Amino acid sequence: MSQSPTHALPSYLDPEHLGPWGVYLQQVDRVTPYLGSLGRWVETLKRPKRALIVDVPVELDNGRIAHFEGYRVQHNTSRGPGKGGVRFHQDVTLSEVMALSAWMSIKNAAVNLPYGGAKGGIRVDPRTLSQAELERITRRYTSEIGVIIGPSKDIPAPDVNTNAQIMAWMMDTYSMNEGATATGVVTGKPITLGGSLGRVEATGRGVFVVGCEAARDAGVEVAGARVIVQGFGNVGGTAARLFHGVGAKVIAVQDHTGTIYNPAGLDVPELLVHVSQKGGVGGFAKAEPLDPKEFWTLETEFLIPAALESQITAENAPSIRAKIVVEGANGPTTPQADDILFENGTMVVPDVLANAGGVTVSYFEWVQDFSSFFWTEDEINQRLERIMREAYSSISQVAREQKVTLRTAAFIVACTRILQARQVRGLYP
Ligand SMILES: NC(=O)c1ccc[n+]([C@@H]2O[C@H](COP(=O)([O-])OP(=O)(O)OC[C@H]3O[C@@H](n4cnc5c(N)ncnc54)[C@H](O)[C@@H]3O)[C@@H](O)[C@H]2O)c1
Repeated sequence: MSQSPTHALPSYLDPEHLGPWGVYLQQVDRVTPYLGSLGRWVETLKRPKRALIVDVPVELDNGRIAHFEGYRVQHNTSRGPGKGGVRFHQDVTLSEVMALSAWMSIKNAAVNLPYGGAKGGIRVDPRTLSQAELERITRRYTSEIGVIIGPSKDIPAPDVNTNAQIMAWMMDTYSMNEGATATGVVTGKPITLGGSLGRVEATGRGVFVVGCEAARDAGVEVAGARVIVQGFGNVGGTAARLFHGVGAKVIAVQDHTGTIYNPAGLDVPELLVHVSQKGGVGGFAKAEPLDPKEFWTLETEFLIPAALESQITAENAPSIRAKIVVEGANGPTTPQADDILFENGTMVVPDVLANAGGVTVSYFEWVQDFSSFFWTEDEINQRLERIMREAYSSISQVAREQKVTLRTAAFIVACTRILQARQVRGLYP
């Protein structure tokens, strides 16, 4: 064997083009020294349990037959069924879906949800499809991965370019194939089909809750604190509204239409109305436009990246003057930037903790579907807040004890939980 057993790669990956999977492997290597005797099992985290590649043939509206590549990867199911979204994007690759599925294992374990990690995708640009083509591709993909998904096996959810309607088609296709209505096979469904109240706002609410917990640890008073937000969609818009609601001042917002600034604090409810009418924050009257690069240099208590990955880099991290970064987006901070922020004393609440509110309410949706008994929005929000607070508390305790960042602590907590489950279950046969 040419490679050492600890870095053996599966033959289907190209070592020169590992993509996001390579980043994930580095993160596991970073955490291994903290795993003690559980380190014996760490190889299980470095390969997905199961990776299914499917051909998705569809008849297009013009009569042509097109074929698309589809994936469903179950990274780890030691702690429960697989759970993770489905993304429709022209650049989706197996390596990317593998990494995203692994990060779902980490997120679910970090927040202590009884799930493993999974992810799926189709290599297609959905903007090129008609609604009827989108439905056909969704149904064929669901049918192809139907052999490995199911309410107690693996539960997909929406991700990039997929939504409640697509979840409804997935649920219907699976149910038709099974011969019985199975609402619990996907989450993020429409409310009329067993979806959960509170799901839409859940991720932003989780960002707000852990942001407040981090503020207490950092000695920051939330009322009156300055907040800057990149991305004013579902996650960023909700988090901004909740911070505004407790008296924090949202002084700058950046999205794909522009960057706006008001040192006295933006009127967030009015800005939300503006965005729903105009499609973005650009042109908001009660603020001044700001150079996009200056956004990252503003002095602030909270910085919430809630748009895209790799936004905080080695280039802009040295000029960041935020006390606390709460990662609403997935992967907004590169590893080099992470080290720079740490050296400069900025606290980073990592994505696997900060944006776990969405999957937490997906978990509630699944539980409600199983019992066919639905909770009120207040009950959902209270349970979400309790889970987020408990997760923050156990992760920050590890960070203090081990003198590591919250990101490393989240990985320690998550990997320990997964490997303890692996160890106590033992290997079959
Ligand atoms: N929605 C969820 O439940 C959820 C859960 C976990 C993680 N996330 C992550 O949170 C992030 C945001 O998701 P969302 O659901 O709010 O999406 P969204 O589509 O509702 O909003 C995305 C926002 O990002 C902004 N944006 C896009 N390109 C930009 C650019 N180049 N510069 C600045 N801003 C830009 C858009 O203008 C928009 O305001 C993503 O990384 C997503 O993976 C979302």
